[in-house]
Amino acid sequence: MEIGMVFVVGAGTMGNGIAQVCAQKGISIVLNDISQDALDKAVKNINWSVSKFVDKGRLSESVETIMGRIQTSTGLDEARNADLVIEAVFEDLKVKQEIVKKLDEVVGDKTILASNTSAIPITEIASASTRSENFIGLHFFNPVPMMAAVEVIRGITTTDEAFQYGADFVRYIGKEPILVNRDIAGFILNRINMLSNMEAYRLVEQGVATPEDIDKGMRLAFGRKMGPFETADLVGLDVQLMAYSSTYEEEKDPRFYPPTILRRKVLAGHFGRKTGRGWYEYDENGNRKD
Ligand SMILES: NC(=O)c1ccc[n+]([C@@H]2O[C@H](COP(=O)([O-])OP(=O)(O)OC[C@H]3O[C@@H](n4cnc5c(N)ncnc54)[C@H](O)[C@@H]3O)[C@@H](O)[C@H]2O)c1
Repeated sequence: MEIGMVFVVGAGTMGNGIAQVCAQKGISIVLNDISQDALDKAVKNINWSVSKFVDKGRLSESVETIMGRIQTSTGLDEARNADLVIEAVFEDLKVKQEIVKKLDEVVGDKTILASNTSAIPITEIASASTRSENFIGLHFFNPVPMMAAVEVIRGITTTDEAFQYGADFVRYIGKEPILVNRDIAGFILNRINMLSNMEAYRLVEQGVATPEDIDKGMRLAFGRKMGPFETADLVGLDVQLMAYSSTYEEEKDPRFYPPTILRRKVLAGHFGRKTGRGWYEYDENGNRKD
């Protein structure tokens, strides 16, 4: 596989990580954002992260060589020369579709278009494009430089070639593709995680166990780095509720109906670390109180 340039739209948490892993594999990157401030921060963050990998001896090239592959832009024009465009902006269908429409006017016929959406069906985003056959989902996990799995999602109009391209690209950047053969809400890994998290919340709701004990058990028995409640406080209970509710709306399957305890906590503003309280309590420095 030969990849000349990848154009990444959105220079937030995920866009930064995607740009970094591509640059580390020798791919030229144009990182795009509507905010110059976000682009400036992105370059600093990526530089810091690449330096850490170089210091630990995990990369053979210099920071300057890797960073030299990353250009930034507030416009979409350079997407013209891209082999692959990866959209990683806010989780908002309208914003994503607007970008797809604009990209349609710029990119070449062979360019593969991808979205890093966490939950929006790929077909829905692709429907804004006149070349939806070239559209795939590439769902990276956070933090991108550390996480080896990437879900490759086939929309209803995606061709075999585009789907294969996604899997080959993921291997090319040193990660493992997890193939999602049908465009289903929550894809695979989040879908499984969602159900297991909701079961954990229900067990707390029913007074069967405490969050502390469930987290400890999941770490010790299943080798997880963090239990479901610790993770939820980091991700944000509000963010989780949105993802679970949208999956329920899409599927109308009672298994995905968010547990009352989660809905109440969000109503009370107990979002997790960012509000100082979620399943656990935190001090002003974000450290657990107990
Ligand atoms: N954060 C995660 O853990 C995670 C994991 C997997 C997937 N995702 C998905 O990845 C996507 C991005 O998430 P994130 O956490 O990086 O978001 P973020 O909020 O960190 O960054 C989003 C960036 O998009 C930019 N943006 C907004 N509108 C734009 C436009 N029209 N053109 C160009 N840039 C624009 C913003 O300025 C911002 O810098 C979302 O779809 C999210 O659901 C997130």
